[in-house]
Amino acid sequence: MVCWMRLAERMGRLKPSGTMAMAEMARSLAKSGRKVLHLEVGEPDFATPDHINEAAYKAIREGFTHYTSSRGITELREAIAEDLERRQGIEVDPESEVIVTPGTKHAIYCACLATLNPKDEVLVLSPTWPTHLTCIEAAEAVAVEVPCGETYSLNEERLKESITPRTRMILYSSPNNPTGGVLSLGEVKVLTELAEDHDLLILSDEIYDCITYDGVEVKSAASFPGLRDRVILVNGFSKRYAMTGWRLGYAVANEEIVEAISRVQQTTTTCPASFIQKAGVAALRGPQGCVEEMVKEYDRRRGFLVEKLNEMPGLRCQRPKGAFYVFPKYSVEMPSMELCKRLLNEEGVCTTPGSVFGRYGEGYIRLSYATSLEVISEAVEKIRSFFTRLVENSG
Ligand SMILES: Cc1ncc(COP(=O)(O)O)c(C=O)c1O
Repeated sequence: MVCWMRLAERMGRLKPSGTMAMAEMARSLAKSGRKVLHLEVGEPDFATPDHINEAAYKAIREGFTHYTSSRGITELREAIAEDLERRQGIEVDPESEVIVTPGTKHAIYCACLATLNPKDEVLVLSPTWPTHLTCIEAAEAVAVEVPCGETYSLNEERLKESITPRTRMILYSSPNNPTGGVLSLGEVKVLTELAEDHDLLILSDEIYDCITYDGVEVKSAASFPGLRDRVILVNGFSKRYAMTGWRLGYAVANEEIVEAISRVQQTTTTCPASFIQKAGVAALRGPQGCVEEMVKEYDRRRGFLVEKLNEMPGLRCQRPKGAFYVFPKYSVEMPSMELCKRLLNEEGVCTTPGSVFGRYGEGYIRLSYATSLEVISEAVEKIRSFFTRLVENSG
């Protein structure tokens, strides 16, 4: 075929998602009639709570189906501000400091485009969700990964050594995908001090902030006095309310940054879908028992999975403090992509290779427990057979 069109140079930097390779393999395996157990999917297996669905139906029935302000409807921005104040004591002006986006991913993308210049450096606490890296690349900036290990603990020395005159931002998610680690209050404080000392922005992805265990609380960098002007807080409805397909998120930042993000949004999507914003209001202002129930169930699965993985030969698994992933380290010498492909082919269990999560993810695999205990129990037995074989053959 004659190639008549050339792609832009930036496409060379926008890498295809490593998870796609696994998803593709899982699909063709399933097509051939094999049963596949999915532990790679990072989305809640729960249905969106009914009162949220009802709010969207009602909005559609009432004809609320047109464009809204590119910052989102006032009612939702107010509900977001109330929620942040109630949970974190963060006071924001819903008029000028909040923008609603079609998903947290879009908030991150717009924030990177709005604040990063080409060649600016962004310190990314790693391992990290791969989209953090690609959003930085999309803005033609440079991601400098700072290792936090499988416990997602801050290495202050490494962080300080990584700061250069080009450093512009620190980006992290706590609770973290893929490790499930949560930064302590002291660690967030260190980040805020570094940001002040070196005049940096902080992009804080808080999408899992309502999914924590053992009484662990997430402290946002935005809740530190005097830091508000430096912090871009992004969050969304996907994980907390099992609303992945609705595409609803938001960014909170100072007026100037929100205005810039809104210009990127005007250029790309205009606004999030109108009736979905109404569902967002119902989610935040409605009963929160549904969130508690989901977290309770994740917690049950977490306990089971961590215990079983740690009984297996060749695996070591930390107990995550938040989100719904475990990130065990394996002891055999094999690239994680090859290991995950073999696990899928030989046992029909789909997981995500650690290498997808940046340069410090190699040697690990990510398993999601946002799936039923039944699926997890079946998968665990297959993973056990796989690693038992692997360790025997490597020894
Ligand atoms: C750390 C992190 N941030 C953001 C997202 C995506 O959120 P949304 O569905 O709101 O775009 C994910 C999804 O896996 C994630 O893991």
